[in-house]
This record gives sequence, structure tokens and C-alpha cells, in this order.
Amino acid sequence: MTDPQIVLTERVQQALARAFGPEHADADPLIRPSQFADFQANVAMSLAKRLRRSPREVAESITAELSDFPGTIEVSGPGFLNITLDNAWIESEARRMLADPRLGVGTSTPPQTIVIDYSAPNAAKEMHVGHLRTTIVGDSLARMHEHLGNKVIRQNHLGDWGTPFGMLIEHLLDIGESAAVEQLEAGQGTEFYQAARAKFDGDETFKTRARARVSTLQSGDPETLRLWHVFMDATVRFFNKVYAMLGVTLTDADIAGESMYNPMLQQTCDDLEAAGTAVISEGALCVFPPGFTGSDDKPLPLIIRKSDGGYGYATTDMAAIRYRVHDLKADRILYVVGNEQALHFQMVFAAAKQAGWLPDTTAAEHVRIGMMLGKDGRRFKTRSGESVKLMDLLQEAVDRAAKLIEDRGHDEATQREIAHAVGMAAVKYADLSVSHDSEYVFDFDRMVAMTGNTGPYMQYATTRIHSIFRGAGIAPADATAPIVLAAPAERALGLHLLGFGELVSQVAADSEPHRLCAFLFQTASLLSTFYEECPVIKEGVDPETRNQRLALCALTLRVLETGLDLLGVPVLERM
Ligand code: ARG
Repeated sequence: MTDPQIVLTERVQQALARAFGPEHADADPLIRPSQFADFQANVAMSLAKRLRRSPREVAESITAELSDFPGTIEVSGPGFLNITLDNAWIESEARRMLADPRLGVGTSTPPQTIVIDYSAPNAAKEMHVGHLRTTIVGDSLARMHEHLGNKVIRQNHLGDWGTPFGMLIEHLLDIGESAAVEQLEAGQGTEFYQAARAKFDGDETFKTRARARVSTLQSGDPETLRLWHVFMDATVRFFNKVYAMLGVTLTDADIAGESMYNPMLQQTCDDLEAAGTAVISEGALCVFPPGFTGSDDKPLPLIIRKSDGGYGYATTDMAAIRYRVHDLKADRILYVVGNEQALHFQMVFAAAKQAGWLPDTTAAEHVRIGMMLGKDGRRFKTRSGESVKLMDLLQEAVDRAAKLIEDRGHDEATQREIAHAVGMAAVKYADLSVSHDSEYVFDFDRMVAMTGNTGPYMQYATTRIHSIFRGAGIAPADATAPIVLAAPAERALGLHLLGFGELVSQVAADSEPHRLCAFLFQTASLLSTFYEECPVIKEGVDPETRNQRLALCALTLRVLETGLDLLGVPVLERM
């Protein structure tokens, strides 16, 4: 299928080669949407400089080579090419797209194996809003890559191991297994952790017990491991409640927590040391990847074994990257993790390269997630200064969504179902619609708004189309009349839709779901203008026009619904 911008790029490149020689066959023709035509190509200006000719002359030569072109080209100003596509071409492409089950979205050939590390909450603490964004962005990337035919391996790198588990297990024994399980399943992980911590800090005998428990856990004592499982299973059941509420695709099979790498850590260190990549420095085993220096200009260490012999976060990530490359056979590894860990990942990637564990054929990328801020511009917290509980926040989104639709006469079950979908769309879309690395202000009022670039507005756009089809008495799938783009609003909408397939590939390649949001928002805006200017099922519209417009509506609906689905935003037939 055919993104006009790509088609034009190819055509202009061919023209460049014919006019100026084959060495110009892959020059970038600099084609951009234009307000004076459909597109503008600016290549003549840059090329003219190199060829020492006038830009207008160069532009004319390109135009002369574009005679078989499905549109008109005008040279304007100093040498811009204003390109307007023929309606017939746009129509035939739109018809092809309507008949294509994939809507012009390509498939990666050959498919890539893409490991996506996302969500990764810590079991010793409660899952908080910071994990919301990595969960939502990561899940959207997983959906897109799967849709493109790649093999996606989700890795939920849970924080489920380390010294805090000594005190957590002792606290679990103090309050009893069933009470602990109940508390953890209910999402009271923070309270659980705080109670354990308070005893650890204030009670010497508890501290001694907790420390002893760390050793028995690390030595693999069966009873201690059983208790660890009791703790983890209850915690994961809570995480799963959050995932289910959000409609996130992670399952227990995707859990690859820090504990999984525990048996590999010693070997990881030994191998790095034997290869000379890691050296002992001040008693600790460190890698000094080239190019990293601290404030004092001294080389910065990535510590993989502390001087007390303990392993840390970096050790686990070194084991994990080797496993992902070697065992999972990743072509690409995406780490969807907070911005604040940027240096950590740069160093892990560099150290892995140095050790020969990360070949050039595997790309490791940190998809940096910007911090969630409160309206005061600081880290998002409750008024009392604690971090906000994820479940409370999701529930509030649903409650606000319920208010939004309460007077629409739905029965109770439907009301509840719609409120849930609208609430989740609000939260998820808000996370996805700004670039993932920018900080973002959590603002309920803005995210549940029915206007603007919001989840509820996108859902509303699709429900409007569904309501047209209900009015017409046919299913969208049956709207197969040839698309005709006579009115300017129809033409603009049709032309825009043609870019969908290429955009999805780009969004996945660059890990930028916000660009898909922008595309869908633009779709909804063009749809809105189309409604105003082109009645579909009003009385007086002749049957032929009505069927042609229904077909355009059907194509728009499929683009919106497919796009929202790739973002993981629930769609609705009515609101
Ligand atoms: N559990 C970590 C945190 O909450 C995130 C883990 C990210 N993944 C990784 N491979 N380090 O900060």
C-alpha cells in the first residue's frame, strides 16, 4: 500500500537520477506536506548549490522528468516543487486500502526478535505511578511489533531479589502468612515494607533475624525459598490485578525478575574477570567502560561485585543482557525504563560491548521514560507527600469517566463497562500522547476531557462513526462501495489515511507511540470537518453518495480502531 510521501519520494528520486545522473538516485527529495499543495519538495534548492545552477532551472529539469506522474507539479518561488496528487490516484489507493485487511501496514521481513523489558515494578515496594508509564508505553511497543510480524519477547524484570527480602520474610513470619498474603494481594506492599523497615531500624533482634534470613535465602534454604514464594506470589497477584484493569498484555509467563539471574551472577563476574573486562578496584569488581568519567575526571566504574562480595542491580543487568542476546537471540532489546537510569544503561551497554556480549547485530536501546509530575511541577505525590497508589489513581479515573457519561441513560452494567473503558483510555492515552522521554504533568481534568488530544475524544470519534452505521442499518464491514473523494473534506481525509501503514512502521522503528496518537488525532479532526461538510445519512443524500461516504467512514473507523488497539487503548461502539 502506498503512503503518498513515500511514492513521491521514489518518483522524484527516479527523476533526479534521470536528470542529473544515477548518483542522485537516493538523495532525499525533502518532501513535506504543504499548505499550498498536497506536498512540497525542496530538493532543488540544496541540489542547485552543489550543481552550481539556479534552483529554478534544477526544479524545471526535475519536473520535465516527471511526466508520467499521477498529479500536477508546479515550480514556485525560487524553486519549490508544489505537488498536487490526482483525485483518481488517491481514490484508487484508498479503495485498495479498504480492501486490504492490513490497511497498508507492512510486515517485517525477515521478522526480528525483539525483547521488550517493561513494567518491572519492585516487589519490596508498592507498584507506583512511575511504573504506570513504562507499563503502558512498553505494552504499546509490544503490540505494534507483534502486529508488524516481529517475534516479541516480553520481559518483566521484577525487583524480586536482594537484601530487603530478609526483613520482608521475617515480617511475614511475624504477622502470619495468611495476613501477609491478604495485605500484599490488596496492594498494601508499601505498608508492608514500611512496617518491616521500622522494625529493622528499631529492633536489634529483628535486624539480626533479617540479616540471617538474607543468608539462608541466598544459600537456597528450601523453607526460606517457600516463604519467598508466598510473598512473591501474593505480590504478583496484585500486579496482575493492575495489569488486568489496564488491559496490559503481560502475563506470568513474561516474568523474568532479578531472582531469575541469581544463579548466573557468579559466572557473570568470573567471565568478565577472566576476559580482563572487569578488574578489582578498592576491593570491588568493576568494569570501566571507556568514555565514562565522573566529576573528578576519574573513570567511572560499573560495580558488578561489591567489596563485601554482594551482587547488585548492575550485575543482574549484565547477566540479563547476555541471556537476552545469547539465549533469547534478540535482534533488538528495548529497555522501557525511567530516564533517571540513563547512565546505568549506557554503562551496561558499553560494558557488554566491551565484553563481546552485545554484538553489532543486536541493538540495545533505552526507551527513556520521563518522570510523572504533579500539577506543582514536582514528582507526583499525594498531599501528605507519599507516592500515589496506582489502584486509587486508576479507580479515580474510572469514577471521573462515570460522571462524564452518567446522564446518557445506560443501564448499570453498560454504564460500568463504558466508564471503565473511558477511564483507562484517559490514563493510557495521556501517557502515550506525549513523547515518552518528556516529563509529564498528571492532570485528571485534562486527560478525561472530551475535546483535544485525549483518549475519551478518540473513543468518541469512533463511536460517532458507529452511530452513523447504526443509523444506516449496515455493518461497517459491509460498506464496500467505491470510495469517491469529491468534496475537499473527503479528499483531505482520504489522503491523510493513506499514510497509516508507513507511520506504524516508523513509530515501531523509533519507539514513538506519541506520533501514532498525533496521527489519530489528526484523523479525528479531519473526520470532524468531514461530518460538518459532508452529510452521510441525512435525508436528501442520494444513495450513491451515501454509500461512497459510508465506505470512507468504514476506512476511517478501521484506521482509528486499529491505531487505538496498537496503543492498547480500548475502543467502544457507544459512549
Ligand atoms: N525494577 C526497576 C525499577 O523499578 C526497573 C527495572 C528495569 N529493567 C532492567 N533491566 N534494569 O527501577
